[in-house]
Amino acid sequence: MSDSNSLFLKALNKEITKTPPIWFMRQAGRYMPEYRAIRKKFKNFLDMCKNPDVCCELALQPINAFNLDSAILFSDILTIPDAFNLGVTFVENEGPVFTNPVSKPVDVDNLIAFNPDELNYVYEAVTNIKNSLPENIPLIGFCGSPWTLTAYSIEGRSSKDFKKTIRFVENNQESTHLLLTKFTDACYLYLRKQIKAGADVIQIFDSWANLLDAENLRNFSLNYTKSLISALKQDPLTANTPIILFSREPKCDEQTLINTSADCISLYWDMVDFDINIARDKVAIQGNLDPKVLLESKDLIKEEAYKILDKYEGYPGYIFNLGHGITPNINPDNVKFLTDVVREY
Ligand code: CP3
Repeated sequence: MSDSNSLFLKALNKEITKTPPIWFMRQAGRYMPEYRAIRKKFKNFLDMCKNPDVCCELALQPINAFNLDSAILFSDILTIPDAFNLGVTFVENEGPVFTNPVSKPVDVDNLIAFNPDELNYVYEAVTNIKNSLPENIPLIGFCGSPWTLTAYSIEGRSSKDFKKTIRFVENNQESTHLLLTKFTDACYLYLRKQIKAGADVIQIFDSWANLLDAENLRNFSLNYTKSLISALKQDPLTANTPIILFSREPKCDEQTLINTSADCISLYWDMVDFDINIARDKVAIQGNLDPKVLLESKDLIKEEAYKILDKYEGYPGYIFNLGHGITPNINPDNVKFLTDVVREY
């Protein structure tokens, strides 16, 4: 795809665009009735992710419903732990639960070798989606950051504070580094295959970066994300694919995020003090409307969207997005309204 046909690719290339490209984290999901209609046919969420034709249909739903500038692969970040046989299941009203989490150092030593071909269903979904999209709409592939995958794999479920994980990391630094290395290698092979299958852009979700203090963030999160990005940038097959890093409330400064060599930084909704003058001409910026605004009136949605648009106006490489994913309680009409507001700004 040539950049000239896509607002999104232009912005990722740090160009000023006439109107900012727009897409939403979790743009396919339970808030859409069309999603729920398909979801109810599957008992297990992961079984649905393992069906490439269904993933294709789900990824296209928000593209057909709203006027968006990018599609995102329909899948989940926990496909990699699933391929490591950690027993990933999704429990209603609770989220992911691992039947076989990493509990002690020997569990890390005994992990099976990651075979990227175990995730062929994901690459097939990528190809299907790519073949179904209009030519000028890019497709985002993605993975969880090595740290975020490590946190879920140790904790074994979602948690507010990930206490078990923090204790494991403190007591077993060497094993933690080994696990992070295994996930970094797996992410590289996985993303490489997504790109080979047709993904135009990659987003790395470091959704649990906020658990770490400044020193641990560098040691256990950013260093591994940086290695992953570096591996992709050194590989001729993947070197030119733009990479977006979403890091939730990281305890670090702007330059530290820029030093990961990501092409774009996706800001969490409360990262309001991020200084774009430090980032200018170095990285593109994506974000960061608070998703809760979409639960409010149309007047308020417009007002808050304008605040964000005013803030980033003229920034070379700005992509409109939320500062985290769309939640199931959001009305799709408001998503459509917000998209129109951004287009007409
Ligand atoms: O349009 C899209 O973005 C869909 C593709 C997508 C999903 N998950 C589908 C999904 C993407 C990009 C993700 C990323 C993801 N998954 C993240 C990173 C983004 C973030 O929110 O920080 C994380 C942490 C996960 C792990 C995960 N998956 C959790 C914690 C849960 C349960 C709670 C929740 O948020 O729904 C999931 C399930 C999940 N992944 C659903 C969807 C549509 C809902 C499952 C269902 O329908 O039952």
